[in-house]
Amino acid sequence: MQSLNIIGAGRLGKTLGRLWQESGVFQVQSIYNRSLESGLAASRFIGAGNAVESLAAMPAADLWLIGCIDSEIAVFAHQLAENGLVDGNTLVFHCSGALSSQILEPLKPALIASAHPVHSFAEPETSLQTFASTSVAIEGDSRAIEILSAAFAVLGCEILTIDPNNKSLYHAGSVIASNYLTTLMDLSLQSFAAAGIERDSALRLLAPIVSQTLQNNMTLGPEKSLTGPIARGDVETVGAQVESLASVDSQLALCYRHLGLACVELARRGSLSPESAARLIELLSEPTR
Ligand SMILES: NC(=O)c1ccc[n+]([C@@H]2O[C@H](COP(=O)([O-])OP(=O)(O)OC[C@H]3O[C@@H](n4cnc5c(N)ncnc54)[C@H](OP(=O)(O)O)[C@@H]3O)[C@@H](O)[C@H]2O)c1
Repeated sequence: MQSLNIIGAGRLGKTLGRLWQESGVFQVQSIYNRSLESGLAASRFIGAGNAVESLAAMPAADLWLIGCIDSEIAVFAHQLAENGLVDGNTLVFHCSGALSSQILEPLKPALIASAHPVHSFAEPETSLQTFASTSVAIEGDSRAIEILSAAFAVLGCEILTIDPNNKSLYHAGSVIASNYLTTLMDLSLQSFAAAGIERDSALRLLAPIVSQTLQNNMTLGPEKSLTGPIARGDVETVGAQVESLASVDSQLALCYRHLGLACVELARRGSLSPESAARLIELLSEPTR
């Protein structure tokens, strides 16, 4: 079995480490976290791996996962290159969605890659159960892509190869769908709160409609899933909502207007008439007074 060292076994690193260790894909050999306590905890979670206190204390390995936060990846790429622990037979990869494998160039002639699982590792215990069927976007050296694709495929993942030049746009797609959806939920709760509806009631009220909307989007696509006042061209209703929101919170009104403009563009691809679209664009473009 090939050996894997992990620099930064946090939420992602310890989850992948445990899954690969348990499935017999890689032998987790050495773990280096910011604190030894955290490294020891990661080792216990994975069920393997010797936690060490410095990079210099890590032995050579077949693969290295740089699983620390994005801003530290370049630092470790340089340190690892300087330590002389990697050669042309070593594969070094990171899992950032935003950065490409280019950041690992100092490690050449090692094989380098980035592999981004489109998964939220909020709670590693939960991720162990839900990780299968995650899509993983991989780019880098062709041999590295082969090895990592096989390793993630064993975990039940779907592999997507991506042009490194498009990595930032690709990542923005995930951020908009996942992080912005969460922010939209918060904005919606703020609006309900302003209407005097308590958070628990609002969440109960939202659960079925949000689930249904998500399901519709997955099966029908956004164009056929859009309903509501903008899709219907109900300009007066939209105008009243802008006014109401502006009277409560200008930021809330601003978000409503900006997303409303994107909503109009989507509705135009459906049945929204050009006249209604023009009136809505004018209304939503107005700065909130
Ligand atoms: N979380 C996600 O949902 C997710 C999804 C896809 C991709 N990713 C990517 O996965 C990578 C890791 O994210 P994460 O959420 O797992 O981060 P995280 O939970 O914050 O874990 C980061 C780990 O790196 C260690 N670390 C940070 N600075 C260090 C340093 N100077 N020296 C040694 N160790 C250091 C931390 O050690 P301590 O524990 O001692 O602080 C921690 O174990 C990032 O590239 C991220 O973009 C994350």
